[in-house]
Amino acid sequence: MGTRVCSLDELVVDQATRVVIDGVPMAVVKDSAGDVHAIGDTCTHGEISLSEGFVEGETLECWAHGSQFSLISGKPLNLPAYEPVPVYQVELIDGDVFIDPNATKEI
Ligand code: FES
Repeated sequence: MGTRVCSLDELVVDQATRVVIDGVPMAVVKDSAGDVHAIGDTCTHGEISLSEGFVEGETLECWAHGSQFSLISGKPLNLPAYEPVPVYQVELIDGDVFIDPNATKEI
């Protein structure tokens, strides 16, 4: 079981929120379908917080140089980043969001 992060209602649709669980920084995004995604918050191209970037569809774009990371797979869809960020398992329980920083999804 993960750590409670917030309630589902506290997340704004298509806006990334930075959370740190056990020292692991993540960008948490609720998409327009109501699904919640959590990916590593640090861009693999530079020390930029992805949660300061822009949500576009199922991607989170780094504001620095424009790489878009899939919220599903963590993979960058365009250069300059070419290494994926981790994707964390999210559970929604009774309207609350739980994330386990040790449970990365195998894609
Ligand atoms: S630091 Fe993110 S794309 Fe360059």
